[in-house]
Amino acid sequence: MQCTRKVTQDILWVGADDRRLAMFEGVYSVPRGVSYNSYLLLDEKTVLFDTVDRAVEKTFLENVAYGLGGRALDYVIVHHMEPDHSATLMSLLEKYPEAVVICNDKTKKMIEQFFGKAPNAQIVKEGETLSFGKHSLTFYMAPMVHWPEVMLSFDHESGVLFSADAFGTFGALNGALFSDEVDFFGEYLSEARRYYTNIVGKYGPQVQAALKKVAPLPVKMIAPLHGFVFRDGETIRRFIGKYDAWSTYTPEKTEVVIAYASIYGNTENAANILACRLRERGIAVDMFDVSVTAASEIVSAAFRASHLVFASPTYNNGVFVTMEALLHELASHNLQNRTVALIENGSWAPSAAKWMREILSPCKALHILEPAFTVRSALGAQDAQSFDAFIDALVATIPEKA
Ligand SMILES: Cc1cc2nc3c(=O)[nH]c(=O)nc-3n(C[C@H](O)[C@H](O)[C@H](O)COP(=O)(O)O)c2cc1C
Ligand SMILES: [Fe+2]
Ligand SMILES: [Fe+2]
Repeated sequence: MQCTRKVTQDILWVGADDRRLAMFEGVYSVPRGVSYNSYLLLDEKTVLFDTVDRAVEKTFLENVAYGLGGRALDYVIVHHMEPDHSATLMSLLEKYPEAVVICNDKTKKMIEQFFGKAPNAQIVKEGETLSFGKHSLTFYMAPMVHWPEVMLSFDHESGVLFSADAFGTFGALNGALFSDEVDFFGEYLSEARRYYTNIVGKYGPQVQAALKKVAPLPVKMIAPLHGFVFRDGETIRRFIGKYDAWSTYTPEKTEVVIAYASIYGNTENAANILACRLRERGIAVDMFDVSVTAASEIVSAAFRASHLVFASPTYNNGVFVTMEALLHELASHNLQNRTVALIENGSWAPSAAKWMREILSPCKALHILEPAFTVRSALGAQDAQSFDAFIDALVATIPEKA
């Protein structure tokens, strides 16, 4: 039996939840699951907006068949060719061979690459509008948000912006479809941030370009390919504000994120002392052991916070492995515009700070405080003054605490 929800009078959600996936795209844990959204427009023509991951194929095809109610499927719009939205395209087309695939020329090429055959495609270009009856859709290319073929579409009749992966959130829908059916900003913003920063975060300028294209549109609803549909104007305004901050690498919060690695606990002790001193001065702190917490969580926190502290033992004349991986992740996600302080530890030739600086060197507008603080094996009474001075120098960069 079908599991669908109405988005509007004539647009039906025909997607599905997956709660069994351990790692989304092989790297991002999804303990609360993930949804693959697909939408069906029932107008004079019938139009399906994207397909779903292979894992939920059966439910999806059942939902589409129910939604069509015996009608033919006239069109499938492919906004994004990543397999979490396109793996079931060929099974769909086998069932509905008459359906025409609406896509751009980059998408058509990718369909051929993935499936080894050319679809019956109708190519759309930037700004082109197609009518399906009451509903007419205009297409906007959104290259590198976060693949080159990505496009968005806007339905002039309903005011729905079909936003592809943009505005997506990790987490199964659990029966809810609209963000106003849950406490979105209280319970799901962190999952929306983790989704954005890890998957799209590298492409801030491209997201800015896409936001500018859709800004003049009278958007009443945003329908992404993962997570909730947004229909409440205030939520849409606030969420676009978050996208604006994330895509311009603007910190959301004055806060120090401390990410540390530690083999024997001495670097961890320095990190804990730092956290106490900052809290005593009323400064917000979030803290992670980089060997325990997945990098995707820390990348997300780093996009939120204004200040970052990285603390690591020296390891074979390098930086500790898990810290090295985290810093590469941050650099490859284009993190910028943050104040950074470094703590290194070493028992004979401390050099971790040098390596941390080097990994972060491609990041733009990172203000790395100098000098880094060096722990020699363990902090002792002899370090009290110099550690205080290091903390004071960090606090001096936090405007309201300076
Ligand atoms: C495999 C391994 C390699 C290390 N390599 C170095 C090194 O190249 N230079 C150095 O000064 N210390 C090195 N150390 C020592 C640690 O950096 C040092 O003991 C530090 O105090 C550990 O901090 P922790 O207590 O936070 O784990 C190494 C330790 C281990 C286990
Ligand atoms: Fe994607
Ligand atoms: Fe996706």
